Amino acid sequence: MEKTLILFKPDAVQRGLIGQILSAIEAKGFRILGLKLVQLTRDKAEEHYAPHKGKGFFNDVCTYMTSGPVVALIVGGHNAIKGMRQLVGATDPGQADPGSIRGRWAQTIDKNLIHGSDSQESSDREIPIFFSKAEIL
Ligand code: CMP
Repeated sequence: MEKTLILFKPDAVQRGLIGQILSAIEAKGFRILGLKLVQLTRDKAEEHYAPHKGKGFFNDVCTYMTSGPVVALIVGGHNAIKGMRQLVGATDPGQADPGSIRGRWAQTIDKNLIHGSDSQESSDREIPIFFSKAEIL
């Protein structure tokens, strides 16, 4: 089954949106294969966003992602990577489909609620940053 790494960012946790976002994912028919609440260290945040190193927003996104707990999930299903990207919506919530998670509940690119792996390569790289093999059910 195709798997993708999903993070509910600190704004999602602080705004009390964990349940609603999880419901949207479950209602679409995806399966939850791993789930945990984590406080990211700076090292983990930098490892996760390593492909963006050198970009103007790298420091800010790492600082933001360590500002409070995040929910890390492994979501599985048919075409889970692309399907979850569609459900998540465009990176900039202003461009996101109104029915997507970012389109419904987010306003700005720096606090866009949720991360989803953008490719198989990214999923393969990102999942082990957050989950051991034994934690994937
Ligand atoms: P995410 O899908 O987690 O991947 C990189 C994150 O950096 C992105 O969502 C945004 O939250 C954040 N970010 C901030 N500014 C930008 C930008 N100009 N372009 C892309 N991502 C940005």
